[in-house]
Amino acid sequence: MDLVGLIEGKCRVIEAALAQYLPDDGHTLTQAMRYSLFAGGKRLRPILALLAYEAAGGEETDGILPAACALEYVHTFTLIHDDLPSMDDDDFRRGKPSNHKVFGEGMAVLAGDALMIDGFGLVARSTARPDLLNRVLAEFSRILGARGVTRGQADDLYGGEVNPKFLRHIHLRKTALFISFSMRLGAILAGAQDELIDSLGWAGILAGMGFQVRDDVLDVTSSLKELGKTPGKDEAEDKLTYPALYGLQRSQHIAEGYARRARRIFAGLGPQWSVLVDLTDYLVDRRR
Ligand code: IPE
Ligand code: IPE
Ligand code: MG
Ligand code: MG
Ligand code: MG
Repeated sequence: MDLVGLIEGKCRVIEAALAQYLPDDGHTLTQAMRYSLFAGGKRLRPILALLAYEAAGGEETDGILPAACALEYVHTFTLIHDDLPSMDDDDFRRGKPSNHKVFGEGMAVLAGDALMIDGFGLVARSTARPDLLNRVLAEFSRILGARGVTRGQADDLYGGEVNPKFLRHIHLRKTALFISFSMRLGAILAGAQDELIDSLGWAGILAGMGFQVRDDVLDVTSSLKELGKTPGKDEAEDKLTYPALYGLQRSQHIAEGYARRARRIFAGLGPQWSVLVDLTDYLVDRRR
């Protein structure tokens, strides 16, 4: 199977939908939102949602596309806020100056707020069954909120503890839960059984952990040109990361271990899930 071609096809569908959902109305707030949304992200989360939806038997594009794009809205919000001077203080994102560098801190905060809130509204534009949409909205708020991504970001920022368990908790919350939810969302909206949704969710956690460990590794080994964000920031900001705790080589090993476990679960779900088996390899050997 041509994984690259398949992914590029999905990307085109997502780009077109995003452009339709957020047209330029000339207002600075909209322009700040569009600046980051169309800065060239990998679109990993909506891609995962579309792939899971199709593999779980979902057919109607209108049943998934708004919700898949909502993941990208909300993800982009987390990136804009993550880069703020009061958080990671990052000057580059997606190969361009960070949102606050161009629009100022206040507007960057607001662009993030609007992407999060409009993202939730976008979920409701999906034509899926109302009970499935309800479930998606409830899970979305749970994985993002005080016990999810926001908590992970708080611990990443104000940490305190330096030990493997705390590090796993940070990575689980700030990143893996969102990756896992992206796949669960696809399967839920396809009307899948709980058993499948939960297997997928667990494999997604493992894949998401591998993805964030690889992010930590790339922060040490990559360049601004390749990565699109400033390398070396984790050490400069004294972050608790896998390379800081285990060294580079062991960290990459750990990322691959997570991917191996995720792959086994995807493979066990049947041949229609093979694309996620292949994609999992990419998550831990990607260059950006
Ligand atoms: C960056 O996410 C933040 C992390 C969770 C590591 P991505 O690596 O998916 O960033 P984009 O969307 O491609 O810019
Ligand atoms: C990002 O973690 C997690 C979220 C944005 C929720 P990082 O701070 O490591 O992400 P990058 O490296 O800035 O993309
Ligand atoms: Mg951060
Ligand atoms: Mg950061
Ligand atoms: Mg990082």
